[in-house]
Amino acid sequence: MKKTFKTAIGMMSGTSLDGIDACLLKIYDDFHFEVIDSHSLKYPEDVRKKLLKLANNKGTTKDICNMDFVVGHLFAQCANELIKKSKLKKEEIDFISSHGQTIWHTPKPVKTADIKTRSSLQIGNISVISELTGITTIGDFRSKDIAANGQGAPLVPFADELIFKKETPRAIQNIGGIGNVTVLSKNCETFAFDTGPGNMLIDYFVQKLFQKPFDKDGEIALKGKVDEKWLSFLLKEKYYLKKPPKSTGRELFNEDYAKRIYKHAPKDKNSIITTLTALTAKTIYDAYTKYIFPNTEIKEIVLGGGGAYNKAIIKFLNQYFGNNIKIKTHSDFKINDKLKEAIAFAILGFCTLEKKTNNLPTCTGAQKRVIMGIVSYT
Ligand SMILES: Nc1ncnc2c1ncn2[C@@H]1O[C@H](COP(=O)(O)OP(=O)(O)O)[C@@H](O)[C@H]1O
Ligand SMILES: [Mg+2]
Repeated sequence: MKKTFKTAIGMMSGTSLDGIDACLLKIYDDFHFEVIDSHSLKYPEDVRKKLLKLANNKGTTKDICNMDFVVGHLFAQCANELIKKSKLKKEEIDFISSHGQTIWHTPKPVKTADIKTRSSLQIGNISVISELTGITTIGDFRSKDIAANGQGAPLVPFADELIFKKETPRAIQNIGGIGNVTVLSKNCETFAFDTGPGNMLIDYFVQKLFQKPFDKDGEIALKGKVDEKWLSFLLKEKYYLKKPPKSTGRELFNEDYAKRIYKHAPKDKNSIITTLTALTAKTIYDAYTKYIFPNTEIKEIVLGGGGAYNKAIIKFLNQYFGNNIKIKTHSDFKINDKLKEAIAFAILGFCTLEKKTNNLPTCTGAQKRVIMGIVSYT
C-alpha cells in the first residue's frame, strides 16, 4: 500500500542568529502533521560573530563563500543529532527541508544595467547537508518567488493557513529577531507582513549592557520603566508607516541603528530594555490598528518564536490590546512555540517534492503561484 505520509526534518535559523531549530515530523497528504522529536543547535560563538558581521554587510565575498559551507556543516550536524536522539534510522527519513540562514535580503528592486531585481541570500549549502546526512535535502525557497516578481518573503503564512485554517479570525504573530504577522480570516485573503523589530534590538542591548544573550522570560524588562520620550522617538522610524506588503531585517535594525538610538536612550539600563520591549509590543499594536483591523476583526493573537517566552512582551501586548483580543501562544495549540517555523519549512519542502505550488502571492507579491525550493538528491 502507498505510504500516505512522509517523514521529514524541517530546519530554520532566523535573524536572531541564536542557532538552528530542527523538527522531525510526519507529514500526511492532507498536510496534517505529527511531531516526533525536535532539537536545537546553538551557533558556536565564532560562527555567530562571523554571521553577524555578514548580516551587517561587513564581511568579504571570501567569508560568504566559506560560511555557506560552515553553516551547511552545522545544519547537517543538527539534523544528525536529531536523528540520533529520535532513535529513527536515517533510511526512515524521506527528506530534509532547510530554510538556511539569511545573511542578506533586498526587498526593494535594485537596477543594474537594465536589469531591475530584488534579491535574497540564504546560506547553509544544501548539497553539504544532503551529503553529510545522506538524506535528500531541499532548500533555497526564496529565490523562485523573487524570480516570479515577489519579495521572497514571508513564506511561513502558506503553512499558517494550512495549520490554523480560517474559521476563527486570527493573527499569527511570530516574534523572532523580527516580528511577523499572518492574518487568517474568511473576510479577506491571507496577508502577512513584518511588524518591526521582535527581539533583535532587545537582544543587542541585553548583550551590550548585561552581558547576557537575551532577556530570559523578560526578567530585566519587568524591572524597569517605559521611557515615554524615548519610545515616541523610536516610533518615528519610517518603516512603521509603510503600507504592507513589507518586510525588514538586519538591513535596517542593525548595529548602526542600535548605536544611533542609544544616543537618545534613558540612563537606567533596565529601562532601556523595558522601553525596547514596549516598542516591540507597541509596533505590533499600531500595525494591527493601521493595517489589519480595517480589513478584518481579529478574535485572537497566537504568539510564536522565542519572543513568546518573554513575559514582558506579553504584558505590554495585553496592555495595548485590552480585553477584546485574547493573547495565546502556539503551545495553546499543542505546537512548540519555537518550532512552528521549522515545521513550516518541512511543509514547504513536502510541496516541492510533490511538485505543488507553495508560495502565497497575496503575501509575497509574486505574480503567480510557483513551486519554490531546489533539491539535492542522495
Ligand atoms: N525564555 C526566553 N525568554 C525571553 N526571550 C527568549 C527566550 N527564549 C528565546 N528568546 C528570544 O527569542 C530569540 C530567538 O527566537 P527565534 O524564534 O529563534 O528567532 P529567529 O527566528 O530570529 O532566530 C532569542 O534571541 C531571544 O531573544
Ligand atoms: Mg532562532
